[in-house]
Amino acid sequence: MDLKSQINMDLLPRHIAIIMDGNGRWAKKYGKPRVFGHRNGVKAVRESSESCAELGVEYLTLYAFSTENWNRPKFEVNALMALLVETLRKEVETLNKNNIKLNSIGDLSKLPDRSREALLECIENTSGNDRMTLTLALNYSSRWEIQNAARLIAEEVEAGRLHSKDIDDKVFSDFLHTRNMPDPELMIRTSGEKRISNYLLYQMAYSELYFTDIYWPDFRREDLYKAIIDYQQRERRFGKTSEQLS
Ligand code: FPP
Repeated sequence: MDLKSQINMDLLPRHIAIIMDGNGRWAKKYGKPRVFGHRNGVKAVRESSESCAELGVEYLTLYAFSTENWNRPKFEVNALMALLVETLRKEVETLNKNNIKLNSIGDLSKLPDRSREALLECIENTSGNDRMTLTLALNYSSRWEIQNAARLIAEEVEAGRLHSKDIDDKVFSDFLHTRNMPDPELMIRTSGEKRISNYLLYQMAYSELYFTDIYWPDFRREDLYKAIIDYQQRERRFGKTSEQLS
């Protein structure tokens, strides 16, 4: 039986988050520069976005550039930023054809002007689409996002627009960049690393974590299906007992 038909469409995650890891090691395996890995990673971005949209996943969030990634060699950072511009310009038509809306989370103010402009243009040009929201985490750090939310909430309280006793999960979530998005039910990380790396820490409180040894450029639709099937075999208890769920 093919993998796709093993997916239970009634138990599809609404939101999948991915840490795309292993581009550099993939390139090294072929004796090529790291940037070659990033370029080939774009194919996996395209394939996983299309497969998620086809299945009916509503939100796909990809960790494209962390705040820590600025520490990489300048050449690699520049290449990644240029690749972002090139990819967004090239893919906007495909996004529209597939009815996918582009979105971003992270501190965009630190991005080079060209990258930020290309991103905002693509977000604007796809804003009418409603089959799936593809979110790119760019210059993103979950701790920064949480600290920023705390700062904004403090300002609301100081201004008398919010009572501290009213700060609950809903209120707090509204101050995160992911407001209006459901929490990811499934988080996938490629390349064998088993870390969360400052990604969606608040939002992943109950996410199922899936780790695969495959390097990101090799990640194909069948690998996505495998992750979803694995997720569907788990029992999500949210602190309850098995008996309470049945
Ligand atoms: C991690 O692999 C990957 C990144 C830091 C960048 C991800 C970027 C892309 C897939 C291409 C551009 C994306 C879009 C959305 C246009 P790594 O370099 O950390 O690999 P390594 O751990 O093997 O060194």
